[in-house]
Amino acid sequence: MPLPGPTAAEHSKRVVAHIVAEITRADGWIPFDRYMQLALYAPELGYYMAGAHKFGDSAAGGDFITAPEISPLFAQALARQFAQLFEQVPSRIVEFGAGSGALASDLNTALSMRGVALESYSIVEVSPDLMDRQRQRLQGTPVDWLSAPPTEFRGVMLANEVLDVMPVKLFVKRGNVTFERGVVIGPDGGFAFDERRANDVLASAVTAIEAEHGALPDGYASEVSLLAESWMRSSAQWLARGALVVIDYGFPQREYYHPQRLMGTVMCHFRHHAHSDPLWMAGLNDVTAHVDFSAMAAAAHDAGLNVLGYTSQAHFLLNCGVLDQLQAQHTPQSSGALHRLVSEAEMGELVKVLMVGRGVQGPLIGFTRGDRLHSL
Ligand SMILES: C[S@@+](CC[C@H](N)C(=O)[O-])C[C@H]1O[C@@H](n2cnc3c(N)ncnc32)[C@H](O)[C@@H]1O
Repeated sequence: MPLPGPTAAEHSKRVVAHIVAEITRADGWIPFDRYMQLALYAPELGYYMAGAHKFGDSAAGGDFITAPEISPLFAQALARQFAQLFEQVPSRIVEFGAGSGALASDLNTALSMRGVALESYSIVEVSPDLMDRQRQRLQGTPVDWLSAPPTEFRGVMLANEVLDVMPVKLFVKRGNVTFERGVVIGPDGGFAFDERRANDVLASAVTAIEAEHGALPDGYASEVSLLAESWMRSSAQWLARGALVVIDYGFPQREYYHPQRLMGTVMCHFRHHAHSDPLWMAGLNDVTAHVDFSAMAAAAHDAGLNVLGYTSQAHFLLNCGVLDQLQAQHTPQSSGALHRLVSEAEMGELVKVLMVGRGVQGPLIGFTRGDRLHSL
């Protein structure tokens, strides 16, 4: 693992002090989701709220790379699906968590190349630091920023790699009892995990998973994203007519809570090194957890939306004609980028696309082959 430079290490010390103060105020224990919230989103301190470079190659100081950062081919394929949706709903887009603004920029270009005149493109972003970067990158494009999700929206909403950075609750099974993992200050003054009996909300969430997929073995540790589920439920209030497209690392619940996946899916990224210790260098790492797509689809469905499609990123992009796009602009770089987007060993299979909505008729181009709705 590379070591952070002195400025970054100093920054992490400030983040740690902030979290230590909160743990102390909370009588020595905070639940992991609160720790993750602070490490990623504490104002002016958290990973997404301070100046860390985050996106792109490690040579440029980045920690991880997302599909829109890899190639405009991603936006070009999405544009084909969006153009089809815009035959049924107003040509308005709301993008959640727009990162560096790469997707917004490329999607605007790709849609205009397809002759789609957008009525609006709005971004909902929690990070003031990233919002500044987006404003710089998107100067001259007709993009605006909303301080909260709109309600009664008609159009298409999009969240690429946003649900996997929503704070999760960690649990562990001991005997027949569900415990919640939280964070304490360890004997050496650093952070350590500590378990408490889970409250009713978390215990019932785990009971529901076991009722569906069988009892989890003793010592089994994983996570549930109650926040992402409530975000999906809220989408039913946001969408009067249209679709929400969620793209992220994840799988159906049966796979998520497979008895052999004993340690959950929490994964951190620092300078392109993936590791599984979210307590290391708070504020300098991206902290993620895979998305339980069955839970996301169920939350949207229970709140009144239709589940329109679910497939892998590879199938989605290929269905949307990404190979035709590649042919039109073929270079060694662009074919390498396509490989990263669709290869099973890279993002193609690990990342999934879920579409939910209201008042939208299929068949939808992105799900023509390889739709896996049955697996949710
Ligand atoms: C991993 S980055 C992905 C950025 C971009 N979508 C991409 O694919 O490159 C996560 C983004 O989601 C934002 N974010 C996290 N939680 C959010 C929320 N509840 N609403 C809106 N944005 C959020 C972060 O600030 C960041 O911009």
